[in-house]
This record gives sequence, structure tokens and C-alpha cells, in this order.
Amino acid sequence: MHSKTPEDIDEVLFRREEILTKIEALAEQINRDYAGKELTMVGILKGSVLFFSELVLRIKLPVRMDFMSISSYGQSSKSSGVVRILKDLDNGVENQHVLIVEDIVDTGLTLKYIIESLETRKPASVKVCALLDKPSRRLADVAADYLGFTIPDAFAVGYGLDYSEQYRNLPDICSLKPCIYQET
Ligand code: PRP
Repeated sequence: MHSKTPEDIDEVLFRREEILTKIEALAEQINRDYAGKELTMVGILKGSVLFFSELVLRIKLPVRMDFMSISSYGQSSKSSGVVRILKDLDNGVENQHVLIVEDIVDTGLTLKYIIESLETRKPASVKVCALLDKPSRRLADVAADYLGFTIPDAFAVGYGLDYSEQYRNLPDICSLKPCIYQET
């Protein structure tokens, strides 16, 4: 079991204050773009929970909230694009404007699967708001419509993001020292 101390952290990529400023700007953009409409915000568990919470508090539109949990069949097969729904939406989204809220788009395989799954449910529209984008690892041709930050190919943790279910509660987004995730 690796240590959970700050020594595991390589550097702080984005401090909480900077994250909140960015979320403020994203919310303003969303409020403008969807003015006069109702929004269904779909949070992808678990990494997006903190981002989702801060974002939805700043949305000034009528909002429905729903959540999905997606799992790849283990890290080794992630690049195969084989994923499964662990928890589906509680409600249908027919004729609704859906905004998927993700913490990070990495290979993009999870997002591609979610978009395709939601589009079969006849929504009025499907867009994506992601806090982080790691384009260097992209395998699927997907992109966020609303994006917080682009990051290099570092292992980002904190503000909801985990490594082995740890570090989600760090208030800043940090990169993990390679020796931590390369040791297993
Ligand atoms: C992470 C993240 C995205 C996905 C991105 O979820 O929250 O959903 O991976 O990776 P991809 O673009 O390569 O598909 P994870 O499966 O780690 O679950 P978690 O949100 O519970 O941490």
C-alpha cells in the first residue's frame, strides 16, 4: 500500500482558487449558451463529483441532475474501449438538453461510449463539460464542448481525481510522482 502523504505529490498543477475561477467562467458560458432552456446535467461518477457540485451551484437555469457510473474492464483493457455501465441514469433524457460533466478526458473512450449511449435516448442535444483534457493520450475522436484545462501526460490526482481510490479529497489538482504509480 502506497503512502497517502504529500510526499507522493510531484507538483501542484492547479490550485483550488484557480479551479474555482475557471468553473465560474465555464458556468457563465453555459448560462449564456443555454439561456431560456432547461438543462440536464449528467455527472460521471466518481471523479467528477467535486467539479459537478461547484459547477451546478453556479448554473442559473432550471437544472435536472443525474449520474452515471462507468467501468472499464480493468486498466489493462482500457485501450480496448470495452466499458460497461455500473449505474445508469435514473431517468430518461428524451427531448432534454444533456450536459455530460466529466473530470478528465484521457483516451476519450469512456466519453465516446457515454455520448453514444445517451444519443440513443433521443435527447434534444448532448454536450460535454470537462475539467481536464489530456489530448496526448487520445484514442477516440471526442472533445469537450466546455473545457477547463489542458494538461500534459502526467498522472493527475486531487479535486475528485484518484489513483487507486486515494487523493480524491486533495483540494488542488496535483501530479503524482511517477514512482508511485509505476511501482505496481
Ligand atoms: C476516469 C475519468 C473518466 C475516464 C477518462 O474515470 O473520470 O471517466 O477515466 O478516461 P478515458 O478518457 O481514458 O476513458 P475512472 O474510470 O478512473 O473512474 P473514477 O471517475 O471513479 O475515478
